[in-house]
Amino acid sequence: MNTTTKSHTKSKALYERACESLAGGVSSEFRKYSYPHPLFYKEGKGAHIIDVDDNDYLDFTLSQGPLILGHSHPTVLKRVQEASESGQLFAGQHIQELELAEKLQELIPSAEMMRFCLSGSESDHTAIRLARAVTKKPKILRFEGHYHGWFDNVAYGIGAPSEEAMGSRENPNILPWTEGLPADGAKECMLLPWNDLELVEKTVAAHKHELAAIITEPVMCNNGCIMPKEGFLEGLREICDRHGILLIFDEVITGFRLSLGGAQTLFNVTPDLSIFGKAMANGYPISVIAGKKKYMQLVADGTVIHAGTINSCNPCIAAALATIEVMESDHTNEKLFRLGKRLMAGLTKIKEETGLKMLIQGPGPMFNVSFTELTEVHDLRDSMKSDKQLSSQFIQGMADEGIRIIGRGLWYISNAHTEADIDYAIDKAAIVLKNIARENSV
Ligand SMILES: Cc1ncc(COP(=O)(O)O)c(C=O)c1O
Repeated sequence: MNTTTKSHTKSKALYERACESLAGGVSSEFRKYSYPHPLFYKEGKGAHIIDVDDNDYLDFTLSQGPLILGHSHPTVLKRVQEASESGQLFAGQHIQELELAEKLQELIPSAEMMRFCLSGSESDHTAIRLARAVTKKPKILRFEGHYHGWFDNVAYGIGAPSEEAMGSRENPNILPWTEGLPADGAKECMLLPWNDLELVEKTVAAHKHELAAIITEPVMCNNGCIMPKEGFLEGLREICDRHGILLIFDEVITGFRLSLGGAQTLFNVTPDLSIFGKAMANGYPISVIAGKKKYMQLVADGTVIHAGTINSCNPCIAAALATIEVMESDHTNEKLFRLGKRLMAGLTKIKEETGLKMLIQGPGPMFNVSFTELTEVHDLRDSMKSDKQLSSQFIQGMADEGIRIIGRGLWYISNAHTEADIDYAIDKAAIVLKNIARENSV
């Protein structure tokens, strides 16, 4: 365990106790990698989260993205309470579920028809099953470093121990993320570096007879917060159309965050199927698989099975409706871009003052900070060249200053952050980065 200037005595004792009942002391693999060890929290309010040792953090993790309105938003809480009082789950339809579906039809270009699930992973899984059923082809082309949940179909190529282990750009090794995958699972996955349209074109031309879909995050949020190169998403659309392949946008992070209609609205590229989750209900479990009617028809008529006991439970639907309502009335998307860009500009200024080799990139509502000689990063292979040790030093230094950031360098902005919060974070980053520069003799 690392050392920290804050006291985490209670958290440490609880974590040690948790390791005796919860596998690894946590309920999701990603929570294990926390500084100085997985912490226990007792309260989240607005842009702040407080741990059991009373350490107060200005929160830029937002629970890995969902809390787009901040913690415990009163409107969301009120609507969840009201919906719960009228019943939690009917194993039948209810009006708010219909209202949410109609609202999403209005907002999301590809959402002609949809089904609700509980997690992004489930919706990704549904999309892949549907793409195979539509095309009657077995393989899915995905991109190195993209994350589409933790299910078997997509548990390859998420990361790599080294660039060497990844194999060539043209024919990457299909690296499994976990033990326990089906023996032939890797054969159904094709992998390429992201943002290289020429490679996609070549690969698809050679494998179009066996490719059901191309799935991509429209912004590569999970490894470096990398924007698509100009024309890349449009190119994917055109290649898919030409070869009878479905284009799937995984908007679990970009959805609602970049615009209420997702990245597909921002970039004006409409996929065949898309997946929304995370920010959709400000922390309540709901996701949606949405798509063109001609494809979703296979789910409608039961050719492709999608199910789930808790799907569209009353409180989650109410939370989603309330979140969208608040985002519309508060002009949240405009605010996230404005605050995100202000924070990015502040960090860039410190980078210039300290002379540290850093890259601050992303659209604003989310962005990534890495320590690298590169001035542009376009795919996982690029982002792996960053200095992980300096990054940890930064994340840990910020945590000691009371600023909570996701361990891999990703920052999320919420509607609850204020300009004063942003400037406070910039001031703290200046302290931490100046220390790092001094310690590393920059
Ligand atoms: C782009 C993307 N897709 C899918 C998922 C999986 O969503 P969930 O964790 O809700 O299953 C995530 C989660 O981080 C994600 O970032």
